[in-house]
Amino acid sequence: MITIRRAVLADAERLAELSAVLGYPVPLATMAARLTRLLASAADIVAVAVAPSGLVVGWIHGAEHELIETGSHCEILGLVVDAVHRKVGAGRQLVAAVEEWAASRRLEYVGVRSNIVRIESHPFYEQLGYCRVKTQHSYRKPLS
Ligand SMILES: CC(C)(COP(=O)(O)OP(=O)(O)OC[C@H]1O[C@@H](n2cnc3c(N)ncnc32)[C@H](O)[C@@H]1OP(=O)(O)O)[C@@H](O)C(=O)NCCC(=O)NCCS
Repeated sequence: MITIRRAVLADAERLAELSAVLGYPVPLATMAARLTRLLASAADIVAVAVAPSGLVVGWIHGAEHELIETGSHCEILGLVVDAVHRKVGAGRQLVAAVEEWAASRRLEYVGVRSNIVRIESHPFYEQLGYCRVKTQHSYRKPLS
């Protein structure tokens, strides 16, 4: 049985470990500083999935975004479940927590962009009722 709760600063180490699973290793101090800011932000939600043992097995970050052209919506900015705890409903419950938060803020929809190489994420989101609305190229320019 997985339970969902809001993240707290003490989760920083586990969030960093799971971020590495996602492909983004983050030093603990950096994660702690990041989490401190996000937890203080009313426009962000960070929730964690907890196994019966108390181990945090997944996290999700959702945020309210206001765009000039389309107004406000909720975007899932990150989601990961530890590989050995997948397919037991943690991901579904984490997304549901963000949807509930977004609904409480009267946002019209929840969106998510997922890299095409994240093979398991696409049937996952479709199973949860998400429809693919477009395919994009992602650009980046380093600033030195
Ligand atoms: C995608 C991910 C979050 C799913 O988490 P999860 O806890 O395993 O998902 P759940 O157990 O809640 O599954 C929910 C539904 O999605 C389906 N699903 C999950 N993984 C799937 C897969 N690999 N293939 C097909 N369907 C899948 C399940 O069948 C389930 O449907 P059901 O409840 O009707 O059986 C997890 O695989 C993960 O962390 N992947 C790596 C990171 C990633 O891709 N993150 C998303 C980036 S935006």
